[in-house]
Amino acid sequence: MEKKKEIVMSGIRPTGFLHLGNYFGAIRNYIKMQDAYECYFMVADLHSLTTHPDTKELKQNVERVLAENIACGLDPEKAALYCQSHLPETSELYLYLNMLAYKGELEKTTTFKDKVRQHPENVNAGLLTYPVLMATDILIHRASYVPVGKDQEQHLEMARNFAQRFNHRYGNIFPEPAAFNFGENLVKVPSLDGSGKMSKSENGMSTLFLADEDDMIRKKVMKAKTDSGPTEPNSPKPEYIENIFGLMQLVSTPDVIAKFDEDYNNCNIRYGDFKKQLAEDMVKFISPIREKINNILPDKKYLKNVMEMGAEKGIKSTNATMKLVREAMGLKYY
Ligand code: TYM
Repeated sequence: MEKKKEIVMSGIRPTGFLHLGNYFGAIRNYIKMQDAYECYFMVADLHSLTTHPDTKELKQNVERVLAENIACGLDPEKAALYCQSHLPETSELYLYLNMLAYKGELEKTTTFKDKVRQHPENVNAGLLTYPVLMATDILIHRASYVPVGKDQEQHLEMARNFAQRFNHRYGNIFPEPAAFNFGENLVKVPSLDGSGKMSKSENGMSTLFLADEDDMIRKKVMKAKTDSGPTEPNSPKPEYIENIFGLMQLVSTPDVIAKFDEDYNNCNIRYGDFKKQLAEDMVKFISPIREKINNILPDKKYLKNVMEMGAEKGIKSTNATMKLVREAMGLKYY
């Protein structure tokens, strides 16, 4: 008998254009996992409502995230690629798990504290229980692996806690899901301005988007912060230089990286050439993806079909889990 494939789940919020961080933190692993695992990948439209209550551009943003995933190599015939709100039982499990999540632990979550700082005028209950909804997304498929970037590590730890609590109280239904990056540490793609990470919302000039035009990529890379160069051989690299090397690791060949590393250690690195090389390697990497996005995006019929196909696979999986959940909880009276 064929061995049942292990289950993988992950998601991306439709709050803007996807960028290099989304690719190397998450999507690259989706593509690598789609053959060997049973995969559920979704556009987290419900999560986006916690910070973006205006839904005028939501449909367009959902379609963009779908098209960008597919352009990167995700095959909707292999993985279930769906929209979070198309799995109605998500809301039901979210409600049950909310009864097992404590106000204190939710208030301590780093992303919650960040959002409160950024938007003190909109500290809603959905924001507070964001990690519960994310745990729901994962547990509702009984997934074991969750390919995500470093910034999601704490949410995964919380998902394991909620799974444990449920299992302890009602019976063993959920595996404890692990953040996943092929045996390596989780990735954090740094921003081009020398500090923090690339992100959909903050400072567009320091984030490389998968939809960026070639000249825009060059412009952004050439603006990355450098200095007048090291004066002592083998000096430690400041964070902003380390970050540029980090970006090079993602798209350049090992001999190119080794050359600039050697130049740095010998104090004869030319930062202009260094950034030009990185810019060209970025263009080579991003431009074929951008072309594919531009081809897929206008085909609304295809995208609708992808969503329908994904929802069908997703609902089949959530139905099976929720039947077990209701039985385990004793929410079955006849
Ligand atoms: P989101 O939309 O912020 O990001 C999507 C994915 O991209 C990764 N990522 C990064 N990785 C490395 N370096 C970066 N600079 C970088 N920026 C973003 C994120 O780690 C993530 O993997 N809460 C999630 C969405 C979500 C989800 C889920 C994820 C909802 N339900 C269930 C996994 C499972 C989020 O906001 O991702």
